[in-house]
Amino acid sequence: MLTVVDHPLLKRALTTLRDRTTPYGAFRRTLADVSSILAYEALRTLPVEPVRVATPLEETEGDRLAREVVVVPVLRAGLGLVDGFVRYVPEARVGHLGMYRDEASHEPVDYYSNVPPQVADARVFVVDPMLATGGSASGALGHLKQRGATDLSFVCLVAAPEGVARLDAEHPDVDVVTAALDRELDADKFIRPGLGDAGDRIFGTA
Ligand code: PRP
Repeated sequence: MLTVVDHPLLKRALTTLRDRTTPYGAFRRTLADVSSILAYEALRTLPVEPVRVATPLEETEGDRLAREVVVVPVLRAGLGLVDGFVRYVPEARVGHLGMYRDEASHEPVDYYSNVPPQVADARVFVVDPMLATGGSASGALGHLKQRGATDLSFVCLVAAPEGVARLDAEHPDVDVVTAALDRELDADKFIRPGLGDAGDRIFGTA
């Protein structure tokens, strides 16, 4: 299922991120705000279970999270979306998958993997600002399924219809949460209108 998060603060922040004149410091700060809103929405479906809690006056029933949370950023740009998740779930484990898109073939290339074994029993959120062809996201999700993950969501900032369609075909069990569904991919497989290369804009390497 695709969820396009609708929130006025998210729309305003996304406009700042799209703006070519936004310097990388402001881009990074704004992306941290966006990651909180996206995490808040993506975490909405976390299961809870009852727990007794003693207030200063009496004992009553409360809730605690029923599943562990693992966040897996796709390096590099995915690092920009981790903060929101660990802000709300400080005990979340963080795995890392290194992948870049080959500029000629547009195919994802794996270069690093460090994923906690708990992915097999956890709610797993794969995060990456850009879903373009979907090659990187699909590769990351396949890798995590090989490690035993069964409860996966993919969270991004900007998605292209092509990437959404690919995830729908290759990982129909995975919910996708995005701030925006953009118009198309261009001939160079860049998302249009997009926001450029998120990794370069976060880390100032453009
Ligand atoms: C970008 C982006 C995704 C991928 C999306 O990463 O952050 O990981 O491309 O493209 P796809 O859907 O066609 O696979 P990039 O290769 O620029 O690496 P970076 O994060 O290190 O900048």
